[in-house]
Amino acid sequence: MARKFFVGGNWKCNGTVEEVKKIVTTLSEAEVPSEDVVEVVISPPFVFLPLVKTLLRRDFSIAAQNCWVRKGGAFTGEVSAEMLVNLGIPWVILGHSERRLLLNESNDFVADKVSYALSQGLKVIACVGETLEQRESGSAMAVVAAQTKAIAEQVMHWSNFVLAYEPVWAIGTGKVATPAQAQEVHFELRKWLHVNVGAEVAASTRIIYGGSVNGANCKELAAQPDVDGFLVGGASLKPEFIDIIKSATVKTTAKSE
Ligand code: PGA
Repeated sequence: MARKFFVGGNWKCNGTVEEVKKIVTTLSEAEVPSEDVVEVVISPPFVFLPLVKTLLRRDFSIAAQNCWVRKGGAFTGEVSAEMLVNLGIPWVILGHSERRLLLNESNDFVADKVSYALSQGLKVIACVGETLEQRESGSAMAVVAAQTKAIAEQVMHWSNFVLAYEPVWAIGTGKVATPAQAQEVHFELRKWLHVNVGAEVAASTRIIYGGSVNGANCKELAAQPDVDGFLVGGASLKPEFIDIIKSATVKTTAKSE
């Protein structure tokens, strides 16, 4: 089963109404490959979701950056999966390393969130990734495997699930993983899925890379056989995001050769 290239734009905690309108206008005016070639999902902060949903071009989709672990209720400051569904937001990013590290979200807590979000019909981009210390001590694969295992045990509909490999040392640092480093982990993650979930899920699940992806490095990364797209932070706020979306054509060119 072919894996459609996936490009997510994670705006994190950035933007004003004016800036949001400007970015969305730039996206609307851009010529990008068709929906058959690339799936684009924009993830603004919660407060801008309705505005972006109204203004965003119809061939792009939209994601929240988080949601609560269970049904809503007396959880001050939280946003529930049901609310996202009610607003017509199809996707949610869960387990981003900034939340794992700054807000102490554990593997099990992230897995519970994935489980609940999927049960409500949301599609999930779940993030895994090792710190620099973990990479240097040789435990990168063990760390991402443990993170993936906790999540995978909760996934019911794999077609509604995208796995994002985002090495913490590459996020927002300008220190992108080399294409070989990214490919190595993506290959191992796919192998992990093959062994622990099944051949079909391993072949069809998109594994996307995140961490200092930009207009200059995206093509070489996109050309890696197990890199099925990107989760882009900083560069998703800039016009070069369009170039990153366009890097999807690397796959179609490779196929037709
Ligand atoms: P970055 O962030 O592209 O700014 O490194 C990626 C992410 O955190 O998803």
